Amino acid sequence: MLQKSLKLNLLYHELKSPLVVVETGVTSLLNRSRYGSLSEKQEKVLRRIQRNARTAQLLVNDMLELGCAQKGIIREIPIKVSSIIPEILWQVLDITNHNLSTKIKDVLNLTRLQSILTEGGITLSISSEIWEKEFYLDKRKIKQIIRNLMSNALKHMKNSIEITIKEQNNCFMCSVQDDGKGITPKYHKKIFEAYFQMDKIEENNERGHGLGLAGALILVEEMGGELLLESDVGKGAKFIVLLPLPEKLNEGIAK
Ligand SMILES: Nc1ncnc2c1ncn2[C@@H]1O[C@H](COP(=O)(O)OP(=O)(O)O)[C@@H](O)[C@H]1O
Ligand SMILES: [Mg+2]
Repeated sequence: MLQKSLKLNLLYHELKSPLVVVETGVTSLLNRSRYGSLSEKQEKVLRRIQRNARTAQLLVNDMLELGCAQKGIIREIPIKVSSIIPEILWQVLDITNHNLSTKIKDVLNLTRLQSILTEGGITLSISSEIWEKEFYLDKRKIKQIIRNLMSNALKHMKNSIEITIKEQNNCFMCSVQDDGKGITPKYHKKIFEAYFQMDKIEENNERGHGLGLAGALILVEEMGGELLLESDVGKGAKFIVLLPLPEKLNEGIAK
């Protein structure tokens, strides 16, 4: 008999194809005027289907990647921050702030990106050197971690978010800070447990699943890193990811 986790992973894998059909179908209806023009209401419904299909796709891929991590599969390759952050921002904003996501799509230039993001209260603190530097990291896993932290920050922010990326003590450091209602220290451990959500009813109608942080913690730990939280009620929340950089990294690439 198949192991339970393998069965689940097969199921996630099988969900990929129908989700692609839904997402590409609805995107083509939205983008191609040759199907005829859409009324405002029709477009609203289609956008909602598109958002939800994309959310489901991300969730399915996250679950598959989690399965890989738990089997110890880590694929570290040299990647530039500039090749992951614009895509992550586009993905999270596509779901929460469609206007802003359209504006940043395909913008790879750091200064330009930073300036557009300020419209949405987002500060991207990173030096141009780090933006273009290559780090040995598992691309899918780091994207999944940062995406989950950013989507939480966007969900909970009042006015602003700050994303900081730097190299610190031979670690890759990324922090995501928001100015939302914060998290009482009582829950600092709990929120990393699967299915735990502090608020049962969220203002946002696209509800989460309480799996994002649990997954991010597993990924970070599988990569030998740390996921820290600094927060208190009324003081916003700051999540800090620290990933040790393999020795070969700097030697190999610095040449
Ligand atoms: N930035 C944040 N500010 C306040 N609460 C947060 C923040 N990030 C996460 N949380 C709390 O932790 C819970 C778990 O987060 P997560 O695992 O990402 O699940 P989900 O986003 O699906 O609810 C959330 O439901 C929320 O209560
Ligand atoms: Mg979440």
